[in-house]
Amino acid sequence: MVPTFFSLSFSRLGLWASGVILVIGFLKLLRLLLRKQKLARAMDSFPGPPTHWLFGHALEIQQTDGLDKVVSWAHQFPYAHPLWFGQFLGFLNIYEPDYVKAVYSRGDPKASDVYDFFLQWIGRGLLVLHGPKWYQHRKLLTPGFHYDVLKPYVAVFAECTHDLLDKWEKKAHEDKSFDIFCDVGHMALDTLMKCTFGKGEKGLSQSRDNNYYLAVSDLTLLTQQRLESFQYHNDFIYWLTPHGRRFLRACQIAHDHTDQVIRKRKEALKDEKEREKMQKRKHLDFLDILLEARDESGLRLSDTDIRAEVDTFMFEGHDTTTSGISWFLYCMALYPEHQQRCREEVREILGDKDSVQWDDLGKMTYLTMCIKESFRLYPPVPQVYRQLSKPVNFVDGRSLPAGSLISLHIYALHRNSTVWPDPEVFDPLRFSPENMSGRHPFAFMPFSAGPRNCIGQQFAMNEIKVVTALCLLRFEFSLDPSRLPIKMPQLILRSKNGIHLHLKSLSRGPGK
Ligand code: HEM
Ligand SMILES: *[C@@H]1O[C@H](CO)[C@@H](O)[C@H](O)[C@H]1NC(C)=O
Ligand SMILES: *[C@@H]1O[C@H](CO)[C@@H](O)[C@H](O)[C@H]1NC(C)=O
Repeated sequence: MVPTFFSLSFSRLGLWASGVILVIGFLKLLRLLLRKQKLARAMDSFPGPPTHWLFGHALEIQQTDGLDKVVSWAHQFPYAHPLWFGQFLGFLNIYEPDYVKAVYSRGDPKASDVYDFFLQWIGRGLLVLHGPKWYQHRKLLTPGFHYDVLKPYVAVFAECTHDLLDKWEKKAHEDKSFDIFCDVGHMALDTLMKCTFGKGEKGLSQSRDNNYYLAVSDLTLLTQQRLESFQYHNDFIYWLTPHGRRFLRACQIAHDHTDQVIRKRKEALKDEKEREKMQKRKHLDFLDILLEARDESGLRLSDTDIRAEVDTFMFEGHDTTTSGISWFLYCMALYPEHQQRCREEVREILGDKDSVQWDDLGKMTYLTMCIKESFRLYPPVPQVYRQLSKPVNFVDGRSLPAGSLISLHIYALHRNSTVWPDPEVFDPLRFSPENMSGRHPFAFMPFSAGPRNCIGQQFAMNEIKVVTALCLLRFEFSLDPSRLPIKMPQLILRSKNGIHLHLKSLSRGPGK
């Protein structure tokens, strides 16, 4: 009797369970369909490219010329058009300065449909937070980017660059082109760790850094892919797929790395002498600020908050500059006349010194214009997303209700031919002071704009100037025509096949 009772109740249970799952599934689908309808109706007055019945525009975006496809859509559909990643996730894609201003001069929150894909990895740090907590963290961390804090970093940038250049000196001897992206990435990570996390002699091991670096590239690849693949949007389903599991493994590696950075510093702070040293230092670094921070009522940041900020800065602070430096060097190889002019400028400023000082940075005007022009054509962050917290009215009379999703296509914005005549031409003079005045303030936004702009932009510009100036002094860069880069957005702008360049060593040898 007992077994029949059990088997009976088990089969009943099974029946119930499948019934419940079916109902939940049905309700979920209904919710998605209603939302899709709402998003679509809000964009009624915006015509756009035809959508695939299942994939939306994802198939076109994922092709190797996906970025330029959007530029051609921008010509076809002035101001804005709907952009669908699958059937349920639809954005108004914008790329016209006045449209961008209407949204980005306000502080609307990030689109959680996109940024939630980061949560498992970077948690709720500055990039993802919104509302009062974002404001509190932003206020707390802003002093970490004060001019007095940034000044001594110039020496760190130079030191890390010299390590990179010595490595390249060996590779250059082999007389073959090689991928610079990966080496630049290690250098940028090293720099960031030294500046903001005070990595010193007792630094983390090389192999750990390397694993971290590989994990981050994988995480950016997987996140971009997830964003574009509707079948991966649901957390539960994603974690069951091989890609989802790979994502979780990479997260684990990244978190181990972060935990170690935090633990090392906490241990150091326990040491009385170290503590005294820290209090004597005129300015705290980023990690000091996080660990010492108290709010008005004297409450510390929680461990979860600290880890989220460290993970956020770790990612935002090295991958973006890596992309910026690598594409800049590619531009220099592509346009040797500009390369030569930058080099002459740097030689004139530095003379016989082989290092850069803070005061030199302001004098590198041509180099700076070339960096900006390369940011225009190869924006390190090509696309960002928002969700409207209140309705917005655009210049041409069209509008969007609260709750709508916005995709700002920085890549297409930077190719608007009214603002940038002959947009594909590399012309640094576009950024001469005379040509800058009068230009629409939202026509160029590699660092985004408004209240949610990049907190690290000054840090980034300084780093890029120091690194590229020293690179140009030491090497001549040229293309490998058989391996031209293929642009591919992966949260940051990467190249599908790396960035392969030929390097020719100039007269200054290592250690000179
Ligand atoms: C070339 C280098 C860089 C570029 C192009 C860049 C670009 C951007 C962009 C476009 C955003 C807005 C993101 C969004 O709306 O989703 C952003 C935000 C942010 N960036 Fe950067 N970034 C760079 C370097 C850095 C560095 C070096 C750091 C830190 C050391 C950093 C830290 C951050 C943080 C924390 C945010 C979020 C700010 C907030 O929402 O309050 N970035 N960056
Ligand atoms: C470029 O910007 C101008 C001026 O803001 C605007 O009138 C034009 O429609 C834009 N072009 C595209 C393709 O968005
Ligand atoms: C402004 O830009 C144009 C076109 O790029 C260029 O020919 C001109 O020399 C620039 N003006 C200055 C003052 O740099």
